[in-house]
Amino acid sequence: MSATGRFPGTRMRRMRRDDFSRRLMRESVLTVDDFIYPVFVLEGEGRVEKVSSMPGVERQSLDVLLKTAERAAKLGIPALALFPVVDASLKSLGAEEAFNEHGLVPRVVRALKREFPELGVITDGALDPYTTHGQDGLIDDTGYVLNDETVDVLVKQALCHAAAGVDVVAPSDMMDGRIGSIRAGLDGAGFIHTRILAYSAKYASAFYGPFRDAVGSAANLGKSNKYSYQMDPANSDEALKEVALDLQEGADMVMVKPGMPYLDIVRRVKEEFGVPTYAYQVSGEYAMLKAAAQNGWLNEEACVLESLLAFKRAGADGILTYFALDAAEYLKR
Ligand code: PBG
Repeated sequence: MSATGRFPGTRMRRMRRDDFSRRLMRESVLTVDDFIYPVFVLEGEGRVEKVSSMPGVERQSLDVLLKTAERAAKLGIPALALFPVVDASLKSLGAEEAFNEHGLVPRVVRALKREFPELGVITDGALDPYTTHGQDGLIDDTGYVLNDETVDVLVKQALCHAAAGVDVVAPSDMMDGRIGSIRAGLDGAGFIHTRILAYSAKYASAFYGPFRDAVGSAANLGKSNKYSYQMDPANSDEALKEVALDLQEGADMVMVKPGMPYLDIVRRVKEEFGVPTYAYQVSGEYAMLKAAAQNGWLNEEACVLESLLAFKRAGADGILTYFALDAAEYLKR
């Protein structure tokens, strides 16, 4: 009997022995081209506020954000994803501020595109920064988030961002039919180049906690939840159905969110559809890694790079990560 395929004929460790052969057999590569950097912007000048549950992350006013954007552009990060911290006085039941052409987001988009035309700008499509109750859409008397009425506002919001010059709108609201309506609205207004990154498989996750602190929607949301529109973490087939619908409706890119606990979904989506697929390493994932690193329990650089590489191995074409600047610096070394 031959020893082929069996020890000692087969020694898996032979290829792992030296750096050159490890490099030759490496399947996945992480580069700066894989990063989208989420940033929080607020009104005013010279303002920088720390987010306590996300050490190292700040809410920045436009003038400060422009410096951050310059750093990102110099590092070669392809795009920023913009999240506004909206003044409580501007929040309402109808979320009208979401489509105010003089509002914070359109002003920031215009400034970013003027200063750094080559840096991609992505805006979030959802009403939670603008509603008094912190839900992603309009609600009825019982608190139920209304679908079609919300979609009408999301279209206005997307048109407002497109008019300001945004490159990509990213609906993160999980209303049914919003991708098709937004695509039709954009095309109808002549914004044929505005891309849509659909948060297609967005789960009702507890890992968004620190983000809701950062944008100040946590208190408004109180004890209510988003279970009637975001997906059940128990489901996987449902994610494929969501992605299929968003692609039919005209999404250019699709996203799975959160990231690390959902890499199985990333893999299924990429295998099934073969389209540009992104994953969001969300605020809670950032907080976990950061907290352990700050305690000296994990090596931050090694764990950040390993976590980001894992997204690539799972099939993601890119990752939204609050570690984007740090990771880009690590990769330069
Ligand atoms: C809002 C939105 C959320 C995140 C991105 N867009 C929070 C939510 O759905 O409640 C979470 C991002 C993160 O946790 O980093 N539509």
